[in-house]
Amino acid sequence: MERTQVGIVGAGPAGLVLGRLLELEGIESVILEARSRDYVEHRIRAGVLEHDTAELLAEAGVGERMRAEGLVHEGIELRYGGVGHRIDFDALTGRHVVLYGQTEVVKDLIAARLESGAPLVFEAADVALHDVAGEPSISYVADGEERVLRCDVIAGCDGFHGVSRPAVPDLTVWEREYPFGWLGILAEVAPSTEELIYARHERGFALHSMRSPVLSRFYLQCERDADPGDWTDERIWDELRTRLALDLASGPIVEKGVTPMRSFVVEPMQSGRLFLAGDAAHIVPPTGAKGLNLAVADVRVLAAALRDHFATGDDAGLRAYSDTCLRRVWRAEHFSWWMTSMLHRFPDGAGFEEKLQRSQLEYVVGSEAAATTLAENYVGLGTAWAG
Ligand code: APR
Ligand code: PHB
Repeated sequence: MERTQVGIVGAGPAGLVLGRLLELEGIESVILEARSRDYVEHRIRAGVLEHDTAELLAEAGVGERMRAEGLVHEGIELRYGGVGHRIDFDALTGRHVVLYGQTEVVKDLIAARLESGAPLVFEAADVALHDVAGEPSISYVADGEERVLRCDVIAGCDGFHGVSRPAVPDLTVWEREYPFGWLGILAEVAPSTEELIYARHERGFALHSMRSPVLSRFYLQCERDADPGDWTDERIWDELRTRLALDLASGPIVEKGVTPMRSFVVEPMQSGRLFLAGDAAHIVPPTGAKGLNLAVADVRVLAAALRDHFATGDDAGLRAYSDTCLRRVWRAEHFSWWMTSMLHRFPDGAGFEEKLQRSQLEYVVGSEAAATTLAENYVGLGTAWAG
C-alpha cells in the first residue's frame, strides 16, 4: 500500500500542470498515466496558449523553451468573401496569445517532473478509483504488479475517455454534437501567413495555423466521420487554397487526422474527495482554441484550494471548486460555440442562417465593441472574471 496527498489520474496538460503547481506548494502527488511517455509526448493537439496560461507556465518554472521557441501573436485574421480582416488583440485588450504546441508543453512538464524526482507512472493499467466519498484510493497495475495508492484527494485529469468521470454519481451532462468534424494537417512548410487565418467559405471552414517557422498546421471542415484516407495531399492543398483564398506554399504532410466536434460539460465537477479537471469534465469545439487553456485554469483553481486545505484545513476553496471552474467553463463553451457557429457551413443552414453568419462577421470586424468581445475571450478572460 502506497500513500500520497494527491493522487492524479492522467498525465495530459491538466494532470501534469497540477502536479507541478502542487510540487511548488510542497504538496506530494503521484501521477498515474495509462499510456507510455512516448505516446503522450507525441499526441498532436492544439497549440494556442492564452496570455495567462503562458504566464502560469513561466511562473511555474516550465516556460523557458516556450519563451524561446513560442510565437507571440498579437492578433488573428478573419477571412470571408475572400477578404481578410485583422482582429488586433494588442490594441483591443493589451494582451496576446503564444503559439506553442501542446506536445511541447507536455514534454517540458514531463522533463521537469522527472528532474524533480516526483512520482510519475507511465503505462499504469486497470486504473480504478475507490471510496471517493470516504477514504479514497486508486488501484492499478504497473510492471505486472497490482498496487493500491491511498490519497487524501483524487484529481481526475484523465480526459474525455477516462475512468474518473463515471466515478461521480448524479452528474448532469450537457452536450451538443456538431454535424461536421475537422481534418487536421501538419505540414513541413513555412507558414504562408504571419498570423492565424480563420476562414469562412461556402465549401466550409478552414484554418491556417503554425508551430514554427518551418512547420505549418491547417484544419479543414469535413464530414464528422470522414476517413483521412479519402483526403489525398492534392485534395487537401486544393481545398486549403480555395477556402483560405491564399497563395499557399505546400510541403510534405507529416500528420493527418479527423476530430469530431462537440460541446460537453458535466456538473458538478466534484464529488466527495474526487475533483475532475480538464477534458474529463468538459469538451469545447476547437474553434476558440480553449481546451488546453480551460484544463490549466481548472488546475490553477484546484491547486490553490488544495494549498489552503493542506496548510490550514480551510476547505472553502475545495467546496467552491466546481462553481468557480464552471463560471469560466461556460464562458468558454459559449465562445467556442459562437466561433464555430459563425465560421462553419451547416448542412441545413443555407439561406437565413448564412445571412446571419455574414452579418455577424461584418459586425465583428466592423465594430470595436464586437471585435473586443472576440479578442478578450480569445486571449482569455483574467482571474478577475473567474477564479
Ligand atoms: N488511467 C490513467 N490515465 C488515463 C486513463 C486511465 N484510465 N484514461 C486516460 N488517461 C490519460 C490519457 O492517456 C491522457 O494522457 O489521461 C490523460 C488525459 O489527457 P488529455 O486528454 O490531454 O486531457 P487534459 O489533460 O484534460 O487536457 C485537455 O488536451 O485533449 C486535449 O484538446 C484538449 O487541449 C485540451 C487538453
Ligand atoms: C492549432 O494551432 O492547432 C490551433 C489553432 C487555433 C485553433 C485550434 C487549433 O482554434
